[in-house]
Order: sequence, then structure tokens, then C-alpha cells
Amino acid sequence: MENNPFSLKGKKILVTGASSGIGRATSVQCANMGANIIVTGRNNERLQETMNMLAIGEHHCVEADITTDSGIFHLTDNVEALDGIVHCAGINTKFLFKFIDMEKINTMYAINCFSPMLMLQSFIKKKKINKGASIVLLSSISSNYATVSNALYASTKGAVNSLIRVLALELSAAKIRVNGIMPGMVKTEMMKSYGMTDDELDNLSKSYPLGKFGEPVDIANCAVYLLSEASCWVTGTNIVIDGGITLR
Ligand SMILES: NC(=O)c1ccc[n+]([C@@H]2O[C@H](COP(=O)([O-])OP(=O)(O)OC[C@H]3O[C@@H](n4cnc5c(N)ncnc54)[C@H](OP(=O)(O)O)[C@@H]3O)[C@@H](O)[C@H]2O)c1
Repeated sequence: MENNPFSLKGKKILVTGASSGIGRATSVQCANMGANIIVTGRNNERLQETMNMLAIGEHHCVEADITTDSGIFHLTDNVEALDGIVHCAGINTKFLFKFIDMEKINTMYAINCFSPMLMLQSFIKKKKINKGASIVLLSSISSNYATVSNALYASTKGAVNSLIRVLALELSAAKIRVNGIMPGMVKTEMMKSYGMTDDELDNLSKSYPLGKFGEPVDIANCAVYLLSEASCWVTGTNIVIDGGITLR
């Protein structure tokens, strides 16, 4: 379709966490919409699997652990100026509040919160985010919808929500937009780390008003919207995609 406002034709888009789940689906959908993708993550084998799933384009793969200074330096040094970034890398291990300690705090904050801050700052300092670009950070409904054993994860995503709003304001002068996506439970590897049985997961999925968990592509399609000209007047917001669970 000519003049499709959702097209990403020719845009250069970086996807973190591209070796799995939402990041992989986002890479695939963005390539389907005509973008040239830079996939990044730590696991080269799974990154290559993602590369093999992409529609034809000028795609690149950069292996990096973005919780380290050297990883961020390696990534930001090895990409050309970007039209879009989707930060999907993240972890979620469940702990009752009384079992949280400094090591767990550091590990979870390092990837969920500090890495987007320091990675984006590095791209900005190196002038590698083009005027008119769009940045999308994966938050979570957990940031304002309470569930047991989720205090640490929820707090990292609450910090991301605040980052989105301030960054959107600071980068508006360069016409760079910054938005978030807050998914409910989506069927990825992350869900397997929750230690729930199949029956428990099945019951939980049925409690969602739309009767099921999300698929990675449901989130990826929102990322496409936020990266595209269709959302050119949208900045500083956070879109809930949750099958209706937070209506309760
Ligand atoms: N799934 C859900 O139900 C859900 C709900 C709400 C929000 N979210 C958010 O959505 C995002 C994507 O989650 P997902 O479900 O797709 O998870 P996933 O399938 O477990 O994928 C997580 C990704 O993060 C990357 N990653 C982890 N640590 C990293 C590090 N130190 N450096 C670089 N990459 C790292 C992993 O890549 P490597 O292993 O290759 O490093 C992997 O590609 C996360 O931010 C998550 O919090 C997910």
C-alpha cells in the first residue's frame, strides 16, 4: 500500500532482547514493514535464529551484554545513526519482598533499568539517534498493577515509566519521540521462569477478560505503530496491552 502510515520502509531500527520473545517478534514485524534491523542480545545462536526469520533487508547482528560499559560501548560504536530503538531486553525473577537482597536488586536493575538509561545516553552522546526517531521501552502492567512476589521487578518498570516521560520531554526539541508499552502476561521464555505449573498458567490465562495470554506479535505490532509515522504526535505515553486484566 502506497503511503501506508504504518510503513517502516528504509528505517534503521535497533531491537534489544532480539534473541527471544517480544524482541524477536518485534524484529520480525519491523522487517516485514520494511525496516533494516540491528538485532542485539548476548546469545549469538538465538540472535542468528532471529536473523534467519527476517524479511529481506540490510540487517545486522551485534552481540552485546548491555549491563556492562564495554557491551554498551561495543553496541553504540558498531551501529550507524538510528531511526528507532525498541528496548526489549529484560529479566523477571519472582521473590517475596523479604527475600530481596542487594545482589538481586543490582542484577534486576542492571538490565531492566540502568541498561536503557546508559545505552540511550551513549547513543545520544555519539549523535547516533536521528532527528524524528522513535524510542520504545518495554515496561509492564506490573509497574502499577500489584501481584505478590513482584516488588523488585515492578519497581524497575516504575523507574522505566518515569524515564520515558522525562526523556520524551528532553528529546522533544530534536523531534525524537519516547514511549513505552505495558504488556500483561505474554507467552515467552520469561513466563517459564515464574515457576507456575501448566494448570496454574491455564487458570490464570482464563482469568484475563479476553480469555488468553498475549502473543509476542501482539506487542510487536504496537511497537511498529510507535516507530511509524502513524504515531507522529504521540510521545511520553505508555500503552497498556493486557487482554483487559487491569480492568479488574
Ligand atoms: N513476557 C511477559 O509476560 C512480559 C510482560 C510484561 C513486560 N515484559 C517485558 O518485555 C520485555 C521482553 O520480555 P520477553 O518476555 O520477550 O522476555 P524473554 O523472552 O525472556 O527475552 C528476554 C531478552 O532479554 C535479553 N537480555 C537479558 N539480559 C540481557 C543482557 N544482560 N544484555 C543483553 N540482553 C539481555 C535476552 O537475550 P540474551 O539471552 O541473548 O542476552 C532476551 O533476548 C522485557 O523487558 C519484559 O520485562 C514481558
